Amino acid sequence: MRLITNIQEMRLFSSDVKKSGKTIVFVPTMGYLHDGHGSLLAKGRELGDILVMSIFVNPIQFGAKEDYAAYPRDLNNDLKMAEANKVDIVFSPTAEDMYPEGFQTYLDVERLSNHLCGLARPGHFRGVATVVIKLFNIIKPDTALFGEKDFQQLLVIKRMVQDLNIGIDVVGMPIIREEDGLAMSSRNSHLNKSERKAALCLFQAIMKGKDMYESGIKDAEPILKEVRNIIEEEPLAVVDYIRVCDINTLEDLEKITDKALLALAVKIGKTRLVDNIVLSNS
Ligand code: PAF
Repeated sequence: MRLITNIQEMRLFSSDVKKSGKTIVFVPTMGYLHDGHGSLLAKGRELGDILVMSIFVNPIQFGAKEDYAAYPRDLNNDLKMAEANKVDIVFSPTAEDMYPEGFQTYLDVERLSNHLCGLARPGHFRGVATVVIKLFNIIKPDTALFGEKDFQQLLVIKRMVQDLNIGIDVVGMPIIREEDGLAMSSRNSHLNKSERKAALCLFQAIMKGKDMYESGIKDAEPILKEVRNIIEEEPLAVVDYIRVCDINTLEDLEKITDKALLALAVKIGKTRLVDNIVLSNS
């Protein structure tokens, strides 16, 4: 495994791989890896010849009052985990190289960014789309993998790839959960013992939504009400949003005819967590 921190070196490496006719699979991350990333890497390993993982805590996707400085970082441990997952290249550029002075070009995926997390975090998806297209341009992957925990992010990237004819296969991977159901996230490391316990309400709430849907309730309103009750029963939890929406456009749905996304964002203490589930008959 090789660690590359220089953009030019990464570009040269990728060009050489392309010339040799091999394929590149890419897993973008902000580091502080957990088994959720592990599942992306394991799948990535199967999908092509050279597996590249980026580690870059992207400043432009954090709002002014958000946790960029406090975002957990542990490069040594990440490198060990990358090695164990048979990553070929870890690409970890500096923020100064990615956004040198004078940088002023951003990418907006307009409508999809104006729902769910985009409302509470204005500019977040602009930051995500911009860094991902930069990483795509540097690494030139054939395939890229993203987790479905950040369902909106996955849709934004898929839309960007389609709209701009980027020609990269974007693969979404299922949420990986702790034994008790909490969706794995680097942010879980911020939770203290009582917050960790409280955070379970997200999983309990989406499971309740799923049960209601599967028992025949197709109206969004009673599902939303019950999900909210479960979260609000937890004293450490503050709801940001709870939505039942279309799985492609993220527009709110009143009635579920085929499939729907039940998505929520909840603050547990200072930590904002997201979770979701696709409600579907099949
Ligand atoms: O999901 C993440 O970790 C980040 O949003 C990503 C895709 C690596 C872009 O910074």
